Amino acid sequence: MEVLKSVSEQTASEYEMSEIKLEVSHIRKQFDREEVLKDISFQVKKGEFLAILGLSGCGKTTLLRILIGLEHPDSGSIKKDGKEISKLAPNERGMGIIFQNYALFPNMTVLDNVAYALKLKKETKASAKEIALHTLEQIGMSEHLNKKPRQLSGGQQQRVAIARTLAMNPDIVLLDEPISALDVTNREIMKQELKAIQEKFHSTMIFITHEQEEAFYLADRIMVMSEGRMEQLDTPENIFKNPANAFVRDFVVAHLEQKYESLLKCTGRMKNEFN
Ligand SMILES: Nc1ncnc2c1ncn2[C@@H]1O[C@H](COP(=O)(O)OP(=O)(O)OP(=O)(O)O)[C@@H](O)[C@H]1O
Ligand SMILES: [Mg+2]
Repeated sequence: MEVLKSVSEQTASEYEMSEIKLEVSHIRKQFDREEVLKDISFQVKKGEFLAILGLSGCGKTTLLRILIGLEHPDSGSIKKDGKEISKLAPNERGMGIIFQNYALFPNMTVLDNVAYALKLKKETKASAKEIALHTLEQIGMSEHLNKKPRQLSGGQQQRVAIARTLAMNPDIVLLDEPISALDVTNREIMKQELKAIQEKFHSTMIFITHEQEEAFYLADRIMVMSEGRMEQLDTPENIFKNPANAFVRDFVVAHLEQKYESLLKCTGRMKNEFN
């Protein structure tokens, strides 16, 4: 029994070690002598959904841009699968990014938007159309292949942007507030779809948001940021139960409790009115 236990423990620890996809260490960044990222370190496991949660201006987008290589850190390292990638160009890092405004090509059809980057890549040049068709089908966009972006709803445009990124088969998908531009109903739908997409594609995802509920609904773990600092990184449950400091308590726990209380009040009032 003892022997069995120790073997399974060893396997578990080896599994943990081998599953680290991204390792970010001591990232610092200044703009105009103002430090916008202050010694950020964290790890992301393969297949994990990490949310970065923080107020406007706290450095979320800057961190994402540094991860994909659109911005250079002043210091620190970024390792993917154990290899340093911080000196590589964005297209050599095996990451895909989805921006808030989708950044689709307005004059191209849905199919061409997704196939475009595949056609430029040597490995996928010949099969670009098939890969694009397959990805669009998986994402529920087969009916809209020949439409231009302006003929699509916000949620549909977002799906195309997601398909375009996933078709390139990135190791890590970065999403910068991907659903905040949508109206409330579409945001709810996309939130559920994002979760389904992640389960279907088994992608490692890093998702930026300033909405506590969104982070709690989607993420395996949440990094709470404030003014360029990482305040806490843990599961939603642990953050809620054990906020690391007063900022996390106010920004996350108190906020969710207030939301919950107002929901209870609202449903209580509705019950009284309808009974
Ligand atoms: N290229 C730049 N030059 C100078 N300052 C910049 C630049 N990019 C970002 N900043 C500053 O760095 C800080 C962090 O910006 P960042 O865009 O990372 O914030 P954010 O958390 O993504 O905010 P939001 O939620 O509003 O998108 C801000 O004070 C911003 O003004
Ligand atoms: Mg931002």
